[in-house]
Amino acid sequence: MLTIDVLTLFPEAFSGFLGASILGLARQRGIIDVRLHNLRDFSADKHHKVDDRPFGGGPGMLICPEPVFRAVEWLESHGFQGRRILLTPAGRTFDQKFAQELSGEKRLLLLCGHYEGFDHRIVEGMKWEEVSVGDYVLSGGEPAAMAIVDAVTRLLPEALGDPDSPKDESFSDGKLEYPQYTRPREFRGMSVPEVLVGGNHAEIRKWREEESKRRTSSRRKSP
Ligand SMILES: C[S@@+](CC[C@H](N)C(=O)[O-])C[C@H]1O[C@@H](n2cnc3c(N)ncnc32)[C@H](O)[C@@H]1O
Repeated sequence: MLTIDVLTLFPEAFSGFLGASILGLARQRGIIDVRLHNLRDFSADKHHKVDDRPFGGGPGMLICPEPVFRAVEWLESHGFQGRRILLTPAGRTFDQKFAQELSGEKRLLLLCGHYEGFDHRIVEGMKWEEVSVGDYVLSGGEPAAMAIVDAVTRLLPEALGDPDSPKDESFSDGKLEYPQYTRPREFRGMSVPEVLVGGNHAEIRKWREEESKRRTSSRRKSP
């Protein structure tokens, strides 16, 4: 079982996501546990304030160090030991290899930012792996945390109905997946490639391998 603690200002953002599809089933089956913690609960301020204006000026608000330090200390005092991930556009880019690595862990902590981000002492003063889900800016770390939870969950043993699914997917061997087709064989003048309906499995494997290479080299710089 993998347990993922998520520190967020918007735990409600996860409600539909956690109950649906593969993740919902994985939670029901005890394959993964996702624990949401509201950063506001760790504020020492009587109004549960967690943010303030940046020194030196500039737009927006930053998450203050205190609630984050208190939250992590609370988690540790309740047994948390594991990798800590701080979500930021400035981090290492999350990819399938990283998802595979994380799927081998027992405990993870994901810290979601909001507003203009974090007071830098949060980054400096605690041990974090800074992780980005891509070169674009989200309003908060919640969609980034969901992407990580989802990508990691589907790699956990028995999370998917067919255990071979993750082996055959894009990035599993560094390449993008080949095109796939289902019924009907003809649709609005478009046909399924003959090789896929011919029953020759060696030919099908060869076609898929070639399509996969072709797609990867045309859509990615380094296949
Ligand atoms: C509006 S963003 C802050 C952006 C920050 N001012 C900057 O320019 O890098 C608010 C929060 O969303 C999350 N976030 C935004 N984009 C992200 C990305 N690409 N990957 C991971 N987290 C992201 C981070 O937790 C960040 O603290």
